[in-house]
Amino acid sequence: MEDFLRFVSSRYSIRSYDSEKQVEQEKLLRVLEAARFAPSAANRQPWKIMVVTSVPVLEKLHLAYPAPWFAKANTVLIVKGDISQAWTRNRDGYNSINSDLAILMTHILLAAHAEGLSTCWIEAFDKEMLCEALSLKETEVVCAMTPIGYHPEGEKLIRPKSRKELDEIVEWM
Ligand SMILES: Cc1cc2nc3c(=O)[nH]c(=O)nc-3n(C[C@H](O)[C@H](O)[C@H](O)COP(=O)(O)O)c2cc1C
Repeated sequence: MEDFLRFVSSRYSIRSYDSEKQVEQEKLLRVLEAARFAPSAANRQPWKIMVVTSVPVLEKLHLAYPAPWFAKANTVLIVKGDISQAWTRNRDGYNSINSDLAILMTHILLAAHAEGLSTCWIEAFDKEMLCEALSLKETEVVCAMTPIGYHPEGEKLIRPKSRKELDEIVEWM
């Protein structure tokens, strides 16, 4: 457990990428394999992971999220899902798609960290531009995207983790 705590507390959002260095295919496949094991409501697995390396598509992603550091990413993973395939709660019609996709993305971030790869969960994109770039169907939604890759040599990764204390976030009942 101590190892696990050390592991999760040493993951950071990285906003600096080496555009020249490609992620090894075997590492990428292990990350995707770890994503496959994510839980989902009623085990519906209503998701797809898009692995984007095509330059014209990357350029469209960069337009939808125009941060200069993001433009350096040569590989981007996008987590999308189909609302019609996700579990719905009978009682009130709640659909689990966003929870399902967020767990999938969490697996991706942690698995990438285990492989020594950098990521950054991104949601502040222009939704319309992104949906158009990816030709999404009407029932499909994008949860988030992340670059996956290497930070430039010498980049300082470690910074203080800013988190609320346990007594601020836990309510014992
Ligand atoms: C739902 C969600 C949306 C996020 N969207 C963005 C984003 O659009 N751009 C960005 O640079 N970081 C984004 N982040 C990263 C957070 O800013 C980051 O996880 C948080 O500040 C904690 O830092 P850490 O990941 O280094 O521990 C997002 C994270 C989450 C969970």
